[in-house]
Amino acid sequence: MDQTGRIQAEQLTKHFRKTQAVRGINLDVAPGEIYGLIGPDGAGKTTTIRMLAGVMKPTAGTARVSGFDTHRQAEKLRHQIGYMAQRFSLYGDLSVRENMDFYADIFGVRGAEREPQIQRLLRFARLEEFQDRNADALSGGMKKKLGLACALIHRPKVLFLDEPTNGVDPISRREFWDILSDLHIAGVTIFISTAYMDEAERCSRVGLMYQGAIIRQGAPADLRQLVRGDLIAIVAHELAATEHVVASMTGVSEVQAYGDRLHVFVDDAALRLPEIESALRAASIRVTQIRPTAPHLQEAFISLVTHQRPPTADR
Ligand SMILES: Nc1ncnc2c1ncn2[C@@H]1O[C@H](COP(=O)(O)OP(=O)(O)O)[C@@H](O)[C@H]1O
Ligand SMILES: [Mg+2]
Repeated sequence: MDQTGRIQAEQLTKHFRKTQAVRGINLDVAPGEIYGLIGPDGAGKTTTIRMLAGVMKPTAGTARVSGFDTHRQAEKLRHQIGYMAQRFSLYGDLSVRENMDFYADIFGVRGAEREPQIQRLLRFARLEEFQDRNADALSGGMKKKLGLACALIHRPKVLFLDEPTNGVDPISRREFWDILSDLHIAGVTIFISTAYMDEAERCSRVGLMYQGAIIRQGAPADLRQLVRGDLIAIVAHELAATEHVVASMTGVSEVQAYGDRLHVFVDDAALRLPEIESALRAASIRVTQIRPTAPHLQEAFISLVTHQRPPTADR
């Protein structure tokens, strides 16, 4: 079978002195997938991506990209992989165009293909009009797009992106994802870490990473289904008091606060909703809205992590 574009990890492990950053994870990402790694800070996302991209040696286990061992066959791998690090660096005092030339040199993109490739990527990243601007003078979103264009200069089959949209405004994030969609259509395998749940929803598969382990993986829709019981959303003025009343009620397993609303996990919404309503009325709490709702990936993730036993090994 042609392995081009496939990402595999077997018992991939990284320890730093006392920190078990990655605890024996297993992965098999098919060519052309968009795989999202989501999890809180310190979960092990960056360390995982570094090992998969061949820039960090695993303590144990193996990783393969396009069939090549990312540690032992690093040189073969270089041409397969594009990697945009979490803190990637552009040359601030070089122009957009000069940065692209620099990466073209590094990856040996020469001859007749070089100029059309640079122009294609500048167009692709919507940076054509900014070719002569210094990288330092670009907006945050434009810097990310330039970083992406540089990572694509050698036409990689697999793209690793470590929180590429972190700190970027919503419009630029959407534009960045439009570019990723084009790459996906072109058949590039995309492995992306993100803290944004709306981005996770756009992946074909998601791995939930927590304390160095992938505690669940699957299509976003399937992960949402993993939440046991029902969810009730409550909008009220006195949220803290509402939470206090609801949290101790029979049938309530968990309460999460989101801005002006509470999400209450219950065993049976039809049964518990009237009980909660009357309890809040008895406590003189004015409820603006109370209704059953469907959990998003965010709730699913928090709920799965909350009910997670201390990790032993990847499942
Ligand atoms: N180079 C390093 N040396 C020591 N500890 C590290 C190093 N890199 C990461 N860690 C630790 O490993 C854990 C996972 O970090 P990281 O992979 O950066 O997580 P994430 O990207 O999910 O925030 C953290 O506890 C972090 O402090
Ligand atoms: Mg990280």
